[in-house]
Amino acid sequence: GPRIKELRELAIHIATGAAEMAARMRHEGVAVAATKSSSTDVVTEADRATEQHIRELISRARPDDAILGEEGDSVSGTTGLTWVVDPIDGTVNYLYGIGSWAVSVAVVEGEPEPTSWRTLAGSVVAPRLSEVYSAGAGEGATLNGRPLRLEPHSGLSDSLVATGFGYESARRTAQGRVVAQLLGSVRDIRRMGSAALDLCAVAAGRVDAYYELGTKPWDHAAGALVAREAGAWVGGLKDDERESERMLVAANPGISKQLRAALRDAGA
Ligand code: IPD
Repeated sequence: GPRIKELRELAIHIATGAAEMAARMRHEGVAVAATKSSSTDVVTEADRATEQHIRELISRARPDDAILGEEGDSVSGTTGLTWVVDPIDGTVNYLYGIGSWAVSVAVVEGEPEPTSWRTLAGSVVAPRLSEVYSAGAGEGATLNGRPLRLEPHSGLSDSLVATGFGYESARRTAQGRVVAQLLGSVRDIRRMGSAALDLCAVAAGRVDAYYELGTKPWDHAAGALVAREAGAWVGGLKDDERESERMLVAANPGISKQLRAALRDAGA
């Protein structure tokens, strides 16, 4: 409806503005890093400044909505809508000058996870790739304005599957065991470094599926809607599970059952 269209336009506007800012800071940050300040500080500073910019844009346009972001305290609201934002998803790529990073902005209705919430609209903007993804609930997904619609694909052994790993060592070890076991059952694995863009890659048919254990709402809210609206199956390990912090799976509907079975076999 008109409300979803409006929220989607706003999500695109906010993500695009923030992406330009983060890209500019990265450019300037290279010079800063060369003259000593640590590279991690450069990223943190860019993350914080970009999230601050996003917060300002949201409160100017929709002062009564809540905000949940990666970098700052959450802001409560009175409208029942929450903006879920990741200023830089793919921080390590950003740090190393690899272009696969994005700003992710979603707007959800209801209480954020784990209780039921519904993502109304979202946008994922990757300025170094010149890619703007967006979606509205029930209104489809687009890449740079072109509609995304998945072609059916079947056969896990012919599937390209993306995944990601958390930062914490014990979790990475567990994730490594799962991916090692899965490798024998798929065409290949990709670890591209941004959960938001991995979900958009499923939507664009660039990979056949993506799964990850332990992503946060700001990593996946916008991308999950883009994937779902492009026709992907999006949920958890079991049939009746929705996307959650436990396990997130987004897949071409032709392989979602097979992939989830393989993940369970692999101990996920
Ligand atoms: C990370 C990226 C990465 C995923 C991690 C996330 P960040 O987000 O999306 O691909 O594997 O789980 O934490 O820290 O770059 O915003």
